[in-house]
Amino acid sequence: MNATGVRIAGVGHYVPKGVLTNADLERMLDTSDEWITTRTGMKERHIATAEEPTSDISVAAARRALASAGIEPKDLDCIIVATVTPDYVFPATACIVGSKLGIPGVPAFDMEIACSGFIYGLTVASSMVRTGVFKRILLIGAEELSRIIDYEDRSTAVLFGDGAGAVVLEASPVDSFLAAELGADGTDPRNLYIEVGGTATPPITAEDITTKRNKVRMNGREVFRFAVTKMIEATNVALGKANIAADDVTWLIPHQANRRIIDAAAKHLNMPSERVVVNIDRYGNTSAASIPMALSETVEAGKLKDGDVILFVGFGGGLSWGAVAWRWSGDVKASKNGKVGV
Ligand code: ACO
Repeated sequence: MNATGVRIAGVGHYVPKGVLTNADLERMLDTSDEWITTRTGMKERHIATAEEPTSDISVAAARRALASAGIEPKDLDCIIVATVTPDYVFPATACIVGSKLGIPGVPAFDMEIACSGFIYGLTVASSMVRTGVFKRILLIGAEELSRIIDYEDRSTAVLFGDGAGAVVLEASPVDSFLAAELGADGTDPRNLYIEVGGTATPPITAEDITTKRNKVRMNGREVFRFAVTKMIEATNVALGKANIAADDVTWLIPHQANRRIIDAAAKHLNMPSERVVVNIDRYGNTSAASIPMALSETVEAGKLKDGDVILFVGFGGGLSWGAVAWRWSGDVKASKNGKVGV
């Protein structure tokens, strides 16, 4: 195998049109805009329609990423979708995305590691490009969390939204991948999980549905504590492996789960707020989509420059966590509608 470098050649994101605001949630639940804003930083989230499965929003983000990279679907060697909200339990949503992009036959698979999905996916996809297995990989983080949320549970209903972000990774003489640090601990899945629907419990009953055991349950305080600790730990290890000082990080692009968690990680890194990418107010927590969506918006705003160092960091169900240190390479332009330069 030929060892080579890898770079991100294109980015794109897409959110469904429907918007759920804090004011809407105030009408549905015993909550308030003030509580949601101060505890999470969220103002609104986007919600997909019933006719718009995860593969559709994945394809919309993918078309923009392909246009941004200036390539056609046929130029891809592999498709990876990171998601916990696939179209079906199986087959993989990535297979459906390939077919919707008009390239059946191209290898495709999903990765299911919740909100850490993009960080894990970036590490796996980069490794495959760097070892010469594939030359161009489409990596998508896409979620329709609205489908698995209990909108009568105020402790989770306010947090999550739908969206998709995509990147095209390609072989390059310059290597953008500097280091990764990944981790997982499944000792107590109940901290963040859906209880029924898998093989650990009997098949879903009508009562499970009535009691919402088929929706997300979360121990918010425990996840909060874990998130702050692991984001800081993973950041330190990834920077150490890359031999980079925190001061040399140009952009922190964290998973958008809670503004207070992001602020704690930024404070630890001593990052001024203008170098921390935050869009949680407009999208809420979109799990595996949040980091590629934030990256795509940063490119769209023309902020990323060749040579900038990015630290991607996230955590989520598993529990799982990870950080990737990345050197931005080249002049990537965003595409807002799937056409190059538009
Ligand atoms: N509106 C009003 N009050 C609320 C709401 C709400 N939406 N939700 C909870 N409360 C109440 C609680 O009932 C509690 O009331 P009590 O004191 O009378 O019992 C009070 O607010 C405080 O509750 P806490 O849970 O301590 O609130 P906290 O400040 O920890 O914020 C939150 C809760 C936002 C969930 C926080 O813990 C958090 O962000 N945790 C991490 C969650 C996370 O990141 N999850 C995603 C992981 S990624 C993935 O894989 C999907």
